[in-house]
Amino acid sequence: MQTRLTPKDQLKPKRLKGISDQQIEYHFETHYKGYVNKINEIWEVLQTVDRSKANQNYSNYRELKVEESFNWMGVVLHELYFENIKDGQGTKPGEEFMEMIEENFGSFEKWREDFKACGMALRGWVVLAYDLSGKRLINNGLDAHNLYAFLNAIPLLVLDVYEHAYYVDQGPRRLPYIEAFFENVNWEVVNRRLKSAVRAYS
Ligand SMILES: [Fe+2]
Repeated sequence: MQTRLTPKDQLKPKRLKGISDQQIEYHFETHYKGYVNKINEIWEVLQTVDRSKANQNYSNYRELKVEESFNWMGVVLHELYFENIKDGQGTKPGEEFMEMIEENFGSFEKWREDFKACGMALRGWVVLAYDLSGKRLINNGLDAHNLYAFLNAIPLLVLDVYEHAYYVDQGPRRLPYIEAFFENVNWEVVNRRLKSAVRAYS
């Protein structure tokens, strides 16, 4: 059985460009920690739920497994997102990253354009991922934490586009938030994730 999860407070970013500390505070403390609390609750109930009554139309076991997927992915995606933004440290995409981006998207600008379009078109997340099946980089848009994610792909750069990620600062304007996100990407983290993903492939 799963052990109890504790929130990763060290991942909370501060003093970002164009994304206020208040915005991050609500997002981190209420939304992210809300998923941590719920996944712990679900794992607790899963220990004793009656598996003999599992049923695809309706059963307690089914409901728990569905919400486990929503809340666990809520934890994972938020941790990846908060980890890959940092206050203007001037980090840069690595050589390996740039080569793969150019090979898969034509140029860094073309990739960024597509990533941004994904962020405007989907309702929850954009994930630049290393696809282990095709050995390529892909932009994956998600409508919710557990909806439309490509399997067998490792997340490299994660952007939260839920309204709760920008409403404090931007109201309904999502595009300036996405622009601000790019000002704060911690490329060191992205470069490290790419190295691990390539290792996983080989
Ligand atoms: Fe979020």
